[in-house]
Amino acid sequence: MRLSYVLGLLSALAVALPLSGAKAQEAIERRVNELLGQMTLEEKVGQLNLVSHGPPLRWEDLSEGKVGAVLNFNNAQDVARAQALIQQSRLKIPLLYGLDVLHGFRTQFPLPLGEAAAFNPRLSFLASEWAAKEASHVGVNWTFAPMADLSRDSRWGRIVEGFGEDPYLGSVLTAARVEGFRKGGLAASAKHFAGYGAPQGGRDYDTTYIPRAEMYDTYLPPFRAAAEAKTASFMAAFNALNGEPSTANAWLLTDVLRKQWGFDGFVTSDWVGIGELVNHGIAADGAEAARKAILAGVDMDMMGLLYINHLPDEVRAGRVPESVIDESVRRILRTKFRLGLFDQPAIDPNRSEAGFPSKESRQAAREVARETIVLLQNNNDVLPVKSGTRSIAVIGPLADASHDMMGPHAARGHKEDSITVLQGVRERAQSAGITVSHAPACDLMCRSTEQLPAAVEAAKNADLVIAVFGEPQELSGEAASRAHLELNGKQIEVLEALAATGKPIALVLMGGRPQVLGPIAERIPSILMAWYPGTEGGHAVADVLFGDFNPSGKLPLTWPRATGQLPIYYNRLPTGRPTIPNNRFTLHYIDEAITPLYPFGWGLSYTQFDYSNASIAQKTLESGQSLDVSVSVTNKGSRIGQDVVQLYTRDPVASRSRPLRELKAFEKISLNPGETKRITLRIPVESLGFHLDDGSYIVEAGAIQVFVGGSSLAEPIGEVEVTKPIQLPQEERRASASTSVAQ
Ligand code: BGC
Repeated sequence: MRLSYVLGLLSALAVALPLSGAKAQEAIERRVNELLGQMTLEEKVGQLNLVSHGPPLRWEDLSEGKVGAVLNFNNAQDVARAQALIQQSRLKIPLLYGLDVLHGFRTQFPLPLGEAAAFNPRLSFLASEWAAKEASHVGVNWTFAPMADLSRDSRWGRIVEGFGEDPYLGSVLTAARVEGFRKGGLAASAKHFAGYGAPQGGRDYDTTYIPRAEMYDTYLPPFRAAAEAKTASFMAAFNALNGEPSTANAWLLTDVLRKQWGFDGFVTSDWVGIGELVNHGIAADGAEAARKAILAGVDMDMMGLLYINHLPDEVRAGRVPESVIDESVRRILRTKFRLGLFDQPAIDPNRSEAGFPSKESRQAAREVARETIVLLQNNNDVLPVKSGTRSIAVIGPLADASHDMMGPHAARGHKEDSITVLQGVRERAQSAGITVSHAPACDLMCRSTEQLPAAVEAAKNADLVIAVFGEPQELSGEAASRAHLELNGKQIEVLEALAATGKPIALVLMGGRPQVLGPIAERIPSILMAWYPGTEGGHAVADVLFGDFNPSGKLPLTWPRATGQLPIYYNRLPTGRPTIPNNRFTLHYIDEAITPLYPFGWGLSYTQFDYSNASIAQKTLESGQSLDVSVSVTNKGSRIGQDVVQLYTRDPVASRSRPLRELKAFEKISLNPGETKRITLRIPVESLGFHLDDGSYIVEAGAIQVFVGGSSLAEPIGEVEVTKPIQLPQEERRASASTSVAQ
C-alpha cells in the first residue's frame, strides 16, 4: 500500500469540502488579508478564542466578535442560535463548531485502536466519513481527531483513541482518517502534537522524553501524514517533551510543523493547555503563559480565556508583536475560507441526528466492525460454532452491555442503538435453531461473584459457552491510566470456574487495550479480541463466531503477558546481549517470559495461509530505485479468507542501532479456498534509512534484510544491498511509501 497512492486515491474521493488549487488559494489569501485589514486588535484576538458550550460561554460574546470557534456544540438548534448571533456581529466571521467525533457521531464505529486492527485504510476512511456525515448534518464542522499519537504502552488509557505502536501503519491510517472526515464534511485536527503517547509510567498527562531522531523516525510520521493529507489543524499536546511543554514548544510548532513541513493551517491548544504552562513551571501567570504559547506557535486558546484576556495588553506593551497575532488570525481565517464557511447558508435548527443510525450507516458499521475482530487463539478449533451445536450459554457482564459496546468518546451515541453480543448471538442462533441462555456471572466491574453459580449452571447445560469479558469502558480513554492490566475484578476467578465445567469455551474480549490474561490464555481455547465494536458490534461478533465472516483482524500493538513488560513493542532495538534461553546474563526477566503473549501483526483465521516462492526483484539498489518483493500466498483451507501480507526490513549494520524489524508495507488480500495470489510489495529505497537529530534523513550503504509473512514473526526471505549512501534534507523526506500489485 503506497502511502502517496492511498492519499491520491482518497483525495480523489474527498470532494465535500473545497480543496484549493493555486488560483483559488491566491483568491483566499486576498480575502484573508482584506478581512484582516478591517479588524481591530480585539476582533483579531477574538478569532483566537475557542470556548465550550456551557460555562464560561457568554452567548453575547458571539455577537461582539469575541469568539472564533466553539466546541461541544452537538445539535442544529445551538448551531443555528450561534449563527444568528454571528450575523449580528460587525464582521460576521463564521465560527468553527468543534467536537470530539472520533469513531462516530450517532452511529458508533469501533474505537480507533480496534479500527486499526482491520489493517484496512479503506475502512478507516469509511468509518471517518460516516462519523463526519452524521456530525456535519447538524452543523458540526470540525473534529478533534484523528489522534495521531503512537503508543507503546497500554497502561496509557488513551491508546484506545489511536492506531497502536507502528509509525507506518499509523501514517497510512491517520491519512485515511483525515481524508474520510473531509469527505464527510468535517475539518480534522490531528492531535496531540506531540509525544503524548509516551508518558512516563503510562500515566496520562505525565512527562515524555524522546530523543529528536526518535521523534522523527517514530512519533512524528503519523502527524506528518496528517499534514500531507491536509488536515485543517493540529492540537498541541498537554505533555512536556524533553522538558519543554508542547503548548509552548517552538521546535515542534514552528520549526517542524511550519518550517519543515510547510503546514499553513492553524494550531489549537488542548483544553486549558495554555493555562497549564503555569503548572508546568514555565510561566508565572496567565499573561506569560499566553505570551509563550502564541510566540511558540499556538494560534487558538481552547477554554483558557487567556488570549482574549491578555494578548491585547501584551501587544500594547510591546511584548508580543502584532504581526504574530496577525499571522495566527490569518491561519484561522484561511482555514475558514478553505472550508467554505463564509459562503454557507444558515442551518435549519430543526435538523437532528434522529434519522441515524440508518440502514446504510448500520451496514457500514457492521462491515468495519467485523474486520476489526482479532482471533488471538483457536485451540481445538472451538470456533466457528459447529453445525451440531444445540445450545449456547452466553456468559459475562459485557455480554449485554449496550453502553460499553459504544466505547469512550461516543459523541451523540445512544446506548439503545447498540446491538449487544447477546442480541447478535441470539438472532443468529435462532436462525440456526440453537437455544441461547444468558447469565452475567458478575457485575460490570466483576467485584461480586454472587451470580457465578447460576452462570456455571448455565455453562454446564450448554454445548458451547461464549464468555464476554474484559474492560468496561469506564476503565478506558482519557485519564484512565491503569497500573494493573490484569482482567479487572474477579474475572479470572469467574473464567476459571467456567473453564472447570469442561465445556468448550470461546472468550470474546472487549476493551480499549490488551489485558493481561494470566492463566486464562491456557485454560480457554479460543479467544477473540473485539475491542469496543460499536453500534453493530453484536452482529459483527456473531458474524465471526458463527463463521459467516472469517476473522482477519491483526494486532496493531504487541500484547504483553504481564504489566511489568511495558512498554513493549516489536520494532525495538537490539541489545548487546540478545536472549539466550537459560543464560541469565542475556535479555530476560527472571519471573516472566521475555516474549509477548501475542506479537504485533498477529491474528488467526478459520483458514490457513501458506507463503511461498518469495523473491526480490533486484538485489542491489541505489537512489530512485525500489525494493520489490514478491510472494505467493495460498489459501490452504476450505473457507474464503483474508490475510494481511506484511513486509518488514532490518538494517543489521549501521552507524547507529536500528530496530530488529520495521513494517514497511502491507496489503490485505482475499483468497478463495485453494486459491494462490502472487503479491508484489514495493518500497522506495529512500524509505530504508533513518533520521538524524536535525531531521535530515540518511540511507546508509550496506545490506538490508527482508522478511515477509502474516505477522511480525514473518520469515526472512533474503537481503538487498544499498550500493551508495543517500542523504535527504528534512524537507525532501517523504513519508515511507510502498505499493502492492496483486498479479
Ligand atoms: C482532550 C482532547 C479533546 C479535548 C476537547 C481534552 O481533554 O485531551 O483530546 O479534544 O479535551 O474535548
